[in-house]
Formats: sequence, C-alpha cells, structure tokens
Amino acid sequence: MKKKPFHIAIIMDGNGRWAQKRGKSRIIGHRYGALSLKKIINFSIKKKINILTLYAFSTENWSRPYLEVLELMKLFTFSIKNFMYELHEKNVCVNIIGDRKKLSKNLVFYINKIEFLTKNNKGLILNIAINYSGKWDLVNCVKKIYFLIKKKKIKINDINENFVNNNLCLSNLPDIDLLIRTGGEKRISNFFLWKIAYSELFFTDILWPDFSSEDFLNILNNFSKRNRRFGKIFFS
Ligand code: FPP
Repeated sequence: MKKKPFHIAIIMDGNGRWAQKRGKSRIIGHRYGALSLKKIINFSIKKKINILTLYAFSTENWSRPYLEVLELMKLFTFSIKNFMYELHEKNVCVNIIGDRKKLSKNLVFYINKIEFLTKNNKGLILNIAINYSGKWDLVNCVKKIYFLIKKKKIKINDINENFVNNNLCLSNLPDIDLLIRTGGEKRISNFFLWKIAYSELFFTDILWPDFSSEDFLNILNNFSKRNRRFGKIFFS
C-alpha cells in the first residue's frame, strides 16, 4: 500500500437490513456485525493500521426498540468480556469513548477492565464509540472550557484550535484520515465532527456484516490514490 491512512473511522451500518433480507431479527444482524468487526480488526492488525475508530452506538440509538437496545448492550458486554484477552495478546490498545452515565454497571465494569488491561499496548489503537455523538462531544468541550474560564485558569485568547481539540474525545490522537460508511447511506449521523474536517470519505452499499477484508483493502488502495490538498494548491 503506497499511502496508508494513519487514522481510519468506520460507521458500521446495515446490520438490520442484512438480517431483514434473510427473514431474521435485527439482533442477528448485529451479531453477524460483531463477527465482521472481528475480521476487520484482525485485518487492520495485519496491515499495521495505526488507529481504528468505530461507531457502535450513537446517543440517538436509544430511541430504537427497547429489546434491540437491550440486546445491543448485551452484545457489547459479551464482546468486550470475551475478546479482551485476545486483543491484549495482539497488542491492541482499546479505548471506549462516549457518555458512560447511561450504560449498565456491568458494561462499564468490562469497559474499565479492557482499558486497564490494554492501556500500555503499542500496536493498533482501537477506539469504540458507545453512546457517543459529535454534538455531545462538542457540548462537553464547551462546558469544560466554560469552567476553566470561570475558575480563571485560562483567558479567552488561550482558546484556539489546539485548545478546543485538547478538550474533545481522542484529543491525544490525530484527525481522521479516512472515514468509511457501509450500508448505502451517505451521511455522518453525528459521528465525529471536528476530527473529520479533512477526512477522505468513502461510502459503500455493502451491508456491514458482508463487508470483507477485500472490500476494506479496495478502499485502502483507492485512498492511496487520492490527492489530499488540505485546501492548498500544489504546483508540480
Ligand atoms: C447500524 O446498523 C449498527 C449499529 C447501530 C450497531 C453496530 C454494532 C455492531 C457492528 C456490533 C458489534 C459491535 C461491538 C462493539 C462488539 P443498523 O442497525 O442501523 O442497520 P440498518 O441501517 O440496516 O437498520
């Protein structure tokens, strides 16, 4: 691969439609989605991708049917509990981002456990967004800055792009180079807003449970041919 994206984000969409097409319940689609995710994580490790950030559950997803939300939360807990040692052995550093206040004690327990277990790992950085949204992140950031000003810890002129970035989720990581959305929709759905300012966007009709390593590789190859100008003009 010529130019490899350093930070890749994925909106894993299409689980429900994948299941409905097969006459199965939506949660079956999410379970197959989790298998697809495992495959893509292993492929990212093999390809030495630096950072992978995944949208698993948005702040808006609570408005789905109660049983679907319940099953999704169980799936997150199960997956974290069962794959944490495998991810640790593979040197993956796992971070779960989003508002934990609404998550069950059991899920938060395993989130804390996987983060503690893998925190010193130096391989793939894997960020999973659960109860996250870009707007929630920005509102949090504004609140933090308000308190810093109120306590006279900073002055208004201290606020610049770096300062805002430092008060958002994943502040220690670079912006997203490549954002992929599966499932045919062409929107951001309140995922990262700040960190996608100059991301390359890829939308594919493939439903997430069908998304294969080959599909991923095709997108990576396509990315390497894109001319990223960041608003500048390059003369040859
Ligand atoms: C969107 O598809 C998918 C989700 C809201 C859940 C994503 C969850 C997984 C991929 C499961 C594994 C995750 C972890 C972290 C273990 P959708 O249900 O909106 O699909 P649709 O658009 O076809 O209805």
